[in-house]
Amino acid sequence: MKPSTIKCALNILVLLLMHLANVLTLDVKRQNEHFTPDYNIYHNLTSIQSFIEKFCEDNKNFVHLVEPDTYVSKNGRKQYVLRIRNYLIGDDTKFVKILLSFGEHAREFLPVETMFYMLEKMMQSFRSGILDIDLNKIELYIIVISNPDGRFHVEKTKNYCWRGTSTGVDINRNFEWEFGGKGSSSDPLDEEYRGPKPFSEPETNIYRHLTELVQFDGFLSLHSGVKQIYIPYADSVSQRTRRLPDNIEEMRKLAQLLSTSTVHIYRYGGASILNGYTADGTVFDYMAGIRKIPFSYAIELWGTKDHKGPSCFDLFNPPNEKLKSVISEIYPMYVAFFNYILDWKNRTMQIHVQSQSVEVDGQIKQDDGSVLPYEPKSSRTKQLKRTEALQVEMPSITPGFILLCIVVIVTVVLGFTGKYPVCRRWYQRRRVVNLRALSSTLSFNLFST
Ligand SMILES: *[C@@H]1O[C@H](CO)[C@@H](O)[C@H](O)[C@H]1NC(C)=O
Ligand SMILES: *[C@@H]1O[C@H](CO)[C@@H](O)[C@H](O)[C@H]1NC(C)=O
Ligand SMILES: [Zn+2]
Repeated sequence: MKPSTIKCALNILVLLLMHLANVLTLDVKRQNEHFTPDYNIYHNLTSIQSFIEKFCEDNKNFVHLVEPDTYVSKNGRKQYVLRIRNYLIGDDTKFVKILLSFGEHAREFLPVETMFYMLEKMMQSFRSGILDIDLNKIELYIIVISNPDGRFHVEKTKNYCWRGTSTGVDINRNFEWEFGGKGSSSDPLDEEYRGPKPFSEPETNIYRHLTELVQFDGFLSLHSGVKQIYIPYADSVSQRTRRLPDNIEEMRKLAQLLSTSTVHIYRYGGASILNGYTADGTVFDYMAGIRKIPFSYAIELWGTKDHKGPSCFDLFNPPNEKLKSVISEIYPMYVAFFNYILDWKNRTMQIHVQSQSVEVDGQIKQDDGSVLPYEPKSSRTKQLKRTEALQVEMPSITPGFILLCIVVIVTVVLGFTGKYPVCRRWYQRRRVVNLRALSSTLSFNLFST
């Protein structure tokens, strides 16, 4: 049996097992939870608001709220864009500028909590003369909660599986970068619903607006569910054409550094390589591809390998009693990111303009028409395997297993030809989760045409 056939069979098996385990009811449906947030520990919308107000009030020389009446969600809730630097020293042109995006996905509470910790820790250390994060040189723009309507929905309904906005749009598929591809959905009931058109949502417009005003050096889109760092591009066209950002080596270097910047190891690389699926219309691809931000990543900050079953809150967020230690463990990653970019900017002393490159016949063709040598895919893949932390291993294959695969294939074919009613549900999936990670080295393309 060819390895590709086995891979395919494995994929189908994983999907069937998921189906049998009844985790394929629509992902955004409410599930039984192992634990839920204690709002004396996790923030809720009310305490997010009071935190931000107090933080701005206490740190007037460092923190400004940008356009609080303009940057609002569809239902008029504030997204809170903070602009942080040392305003006492004036002249902003020499600041390294970094944009951070939190709270895109409603059910992911953890990233927002890491931001609160970072803010407090940053101000504390800055006041005591420790330049962990040097606000004399770094200017941070922080989108505190990108999707407040979605968060409101989660808090109100206690459906901790809800990911989208109030109308179920996945913000992280609504951007004008390969919008509408198969790495997103046109079905409003799918958790990856992309919305009717790029930037259809007020929640995403804020990103376009901010990046029109400011040329950023770095961008992070923060998530949770696993521990992974994604390098652009994640979209399906780039996967097919093997398009990479022009400064891929620089991006990879920083990703590698970040992957070991905390007590945990994060896997890093192309999202489609790490997880075997593509994502079209994402914010970090947009920032890299359209806005030419030299360092743009999506980071999955937290997740445990042993998560089982359909519950959601514990898939994306640590237990209440562990929150404090988890967020303090993540802090060094932010410090490493900011300081690397500061250092890079000082080294290059220029605004790095990134241009797209497309691989042509095993070479990279640049925008100016010149061609760079390019390693063939197989050796490149091997190299990725060597250098990237913790690739998931293929399960070992026994004859019985192969037999089972054949049974599964027959069943699927029946389903596929319409003789089996639940076929459509088989490739429902909850993005960036344990189950996908299970099949992480297996790319699944059978149904996606
Ligand atoms: C939000 O959290 C606060 C505690 O910080 C709590 O008193 C309040 O009841 C919570 N609000 C809602 C709507 O759950
Ligand atoms: C930038 O580089 C110069 C010369 O290499 C060095 O003196 C200076 O300390 C650097 N500044 C920062 C912020 O690293
Ligand atoms: Zn997410």
